[in-house]
Amino acid sequence: MKRFNLISQISAFLTSKKQYKIGFVPTMGSLHEGHESLIKRCQLENDITIVSIYVNPIQFNNQDDFINYPRDLNSDIKKLNHLKCDVVFCPSNDEMIREDCPETNIELGNLNKLLEAQKRPGHFKGVLTIVSKLFQIISPHRAYFGEKDLQQLLIIKRLAFEKFNQIEIVGCKTIRDEHGLAQSSRNQKLNDKELKLARLIHKALLEVKGKITIFGLNKTKMYIENYFNKISEINLDYFEIIDSESFSFTNKLNSDYSYYAMIAVQIGKIRLIDNLKL
Ligand code: PAJ
Repeated sequence: MKRFNLISQISAFLTSKKQYKIGFVPTMGSLHEGHESLIKRCQLENDITIVSIYVNPIQFNNQDDFINYPRDLNSDIKKLNHLKCDVVFCPSNDEMIREDCPETNIELGNLNKLLEAQKRPGHFKGVLTIVSKLFQIISPHRAYFGEKDLQQLLIIKRLAFEKFNQIEIVGCKTIRDEHGLAQSSRNQKLNDKELKLARLIHKALLEVKGKITIFGLNKTKMYIENYFNKISEINLDYFEIIDSESFSFTNKLNSDYSYYAMIAVQIGKIRLIDNLKL
């Protein structure tokens, strides 16, 4: 596997590979099975797979979260070697700051107002800036993003549609542990007790899926709020049902639309998000 830290190095490499299909998986490292699934899919569908590892300071709306974000570059490189990834790109802050930012002013509507956008002001602006710079540097044919971060995936699809039409955005399903907890770099910061509590998130979403047609929307929402109210160590940040087309909250379910249950919780210092298609 080739490792590049400089934009000039990866640009020179890419100039010599113009005849190949380039697949790209942007990450913030601390790689887990969720990332691995994106990388494997990318390898299946492209000639060259490039993974970037960059903990992007401008997408953290909380400085403590940025400082405490797990980082383990050596172990990441070992995993990528094991997966036979072709290229890892690990730029420094200086490199990424120096890169000109393409115009990212796009109309996002509710995607930029609700849920993560509301709870983490500035987060998606930071994501859009860095992903745009990475797209500009790498100019891949395809880029892979997880459904685990559904709002991010939908925003990146809009970005590509408006500004990077030549890049196909591929959404990949959420990878979970054997108890249903969505894999996340933040999970490794949970102690044993917190880990057990975190596994209730998916359990709750499955209950929603089972109950919503019987209970209806309002009762289901109340049920989930009570469910988490009873557990003092978990703070429910939000639980909402959204229609994924318009990314709006919904009052009633219509069989023609596709709905997702969206959830964010805080357990100790760790904030986790998840979603489930209903
Ligand atoms: P990061 O959290 O490292 O995630 C990188 C990619 O892996 C994202 O597309 C995310 O949705 C996907 N992913 C994470 N957990 C997953 C899981 N359990 N199953 C499937 N996919 C999963 O998301 C980011 O980094 C950053 O915001 C980034 C896009 C790199 C921009 O800085």
